[in-house]
Amino acid sequence: MLSKEDNELLTQTNAGTPMGDLIRCYWIPALLSEEIPQRDGPPVRVRLLGEELVAFRDSHGRIGLLGERCAHRGTSLFYGRNEECGLRCIYHGWKYDVEGNVLDTPAEPGDSDFKKKLRHTAYPTHEAGGVIYAYLGPRDKMPLFPAYEWTQVPLEQTYVTKCLLECNYLQGLEGECDSSHLSFLHRAFTNERNQPLYKSDTAPFYETEETDFGVRLIATRNVADNQHYVRFSAFVTPVYGCVPAGRPTNELDGYEIHTYVPADDTHCWRYDIGFHRTRAVREDEVHRRKQINPDYTRIRHARNNYLQDRQIQKTVNFTGIEDFLNHDACATESMGPIFDRSREHLGVSDKAVIAVRKSLLSSVKALRDGREPPHIVRQAQRNWFPHIDCFAYLLPRAVPWRQRFDYLTLSAEKENPAAFSAQERAVS
Ligand code: FES
Ligand SMILES: [Fe+2]
Repeated sequence: MLSKEDNELLTQTNAGTPMGDLIRCYWIPALLSEEIPQRDGPPVRVRLLGEELVAFRDSHGRIGLLGERCAHRGTSLFYGRNEECGLRCIYHGWKYDVEGNVLDTPAEPGDSDFKKKLRHTAYPTHEAGGVIYAYLGPRDKMPLFPAYEWTQVPLEQTYVTKCLLECNYLQGLEGECDSSHLSFLHRAFTNERNQPLYKSDTAPFYETEETDFGVRLIATRNVADNQHYVRFSAFVTPVYGCVPAGRPTNELDGYEIHTYVPADDTHCWRYDIGFHRTRAVREDEVHRRKQINPDYTRIRHARNNYLQDRQIQKTVNFTGIEDFLNHDACATESMGPIFDRSREHLGVSDKAVIAVRKSLLSSVKALRDGREPPHIVRQAQRNWFPHIDCFAYLLPRAVPWRQRFDYLTLSAEKENPAAFSAQERAVS
């Protein structure tokens, strides 16, 4: 459980709150590339950390992420004209470039230098793997864009979906750090012979380790033939949960990243990013698209009870609801918009959730005390993360995972990147 104070500390993310300031120290997903596919195409609204913004792609392909309200008298730039390297307000024609410079104030006298004195809210962006990331913190503290593996592989080896989750971001994020719910929430009764191994032992043994990027989470289950079924997941500061989702056991060819970015304190954007190291993505791997409306809300939501079918719940799966995405949404949204964690009762199976909260609280407090929080990349030679690897693996019980996968214990802050290339990733 958390005290009411710590719960508020972790769940409030508007500008000026400690957690809001922490998230603003990092690059976070802001929108998908597909939302603004064309140069000079229509701008889109972006709600992020309680701020109302608009995004657009200018005539050169550069991306602008601007405050939605025009600096003149506040008309929404969402309705603006995206033309000739800038976004022009429809009310009196003021025009902004992607940096927030005011290029034109046509209703002012020709000799006015008014526009030179103004700078509109504009945030830096970085596009990678179909996602447009943004940095909303102070300009003089902007870190390098982290070279996560999922941002480095060719575009055809990645996939991504986005949807709105109608609750505080932390509820979603905690679900990614909780291996035990796999055995229940996502259980299917059909296909008994092909059941995933996480069904066989519903009370795994958990380990958590602090790392240079956040926390590594290891869930070990006893399975037949004197083997361990080990699942490696990771919490990457501040809002990324990395999991072996959708990958067969013993496959080491990439993983999924589930990110929960606050839109405001009672809504967040869930991004499901996946990548392969060696092959292109197949269409069927992006199955979650079928669950999402064109405006990124979900077809199944609280107001239609997630279209739960009680007969299916008796015979087909544990929830009576289709798709993992909706299972997670039902479990986390039904806690309420911001769950009061002073009322919960944590068990042994919540060890990883506790470790992630502890990590976030210590980062928030570090920043509040004037220290630099962890995992802010400032040096190019520290910008490598192959040791954030997530997968499920069957190991003989006598073989410790640390011995089999020793590259997982590397640290970008201590070792040279050559340390990884010297240690081959295990080949299954
Ligand atoms: S309100 Fe935008 S130009 Fe006047
Ligand atoms: Fe889940």
